[in-house]
Amino acid sequence: MTADNSAHVVPSWAAHEIGETIISPDQVSSRVRELGADITRDYADNPPLLVGVLKGAMVFMSDLIRAIELPVDVDFMAVSSYGASTKSSGVVRIVKDLDAELSNRHVLIVEDVVDTGLTLNYLRKYLGARKPLSLEVCALLFKEEIQRVEQDIRYIGFSIPADFVVGYGLDVNERYRNLGGVYKFTGEA
Ligand code: IMP
Ligand code: MG
Repeated sequence: MTADNSAHVVPSWAAHEIGETIISPDQVSSRVRELGADITRDYADNPPLLVGVLKGAMVFMSDLIRAIELPVDVDFMAVSSYGASTKSSGVVRIVKDLDAELSNRHVLIVEDVVDTGLTLNYLRKYLGARKPLSLEVCALLFKEEIQRVEQDIRYIGFSIPADFVVGYGLDVNERYRNLGGVYKFTGEA
């Protein structure tokens, strides 16, 4: 992506650990509106159940649902795949399961970022076993050039380089989720 981020300044309280702006707050919000319009069009006859993956997708989810002009339902799962480091462990653990039934539902998984794809792969199998009418994925970020499990992702906000990033819901050790854009993390994890 080669959009112009020059007008955007990294907040001073975060600047010591934050590098370049990968996606500015303005770019995020216009892309989220586009994704909402796409989902509104594609699901016009079958409003989906959106399943957000906590905690990273919480900010994206809250903006995305307000960009969808359909009577969607919302639920969350919490999975843990990283522990407290910036490298994927490959081990996915369910910390909070869904409250909703999935049979007779069109399900759309809402993820913050697809890195190795291990988390998504696991979630697809896990949710697919509950026999939803359809199961698709909307990921805000998709990391390029990563050795990953083959993925079929219906909606992608942005393809980004493979660096570790924070902001707009994404964290390092629970910090920086409240940054309005997405930034390269330059500190010690
Ligand atoms: P995957 O299983 O390797 O695809 O990793 C997916 C999960 O790891 C995401 O849902 C994020 O919570 C976390 N993750 C991956 N890359 C990043 C990053 O650059 N910043 C923050 N969290 C990340
Ligand atoms: Mg996460």
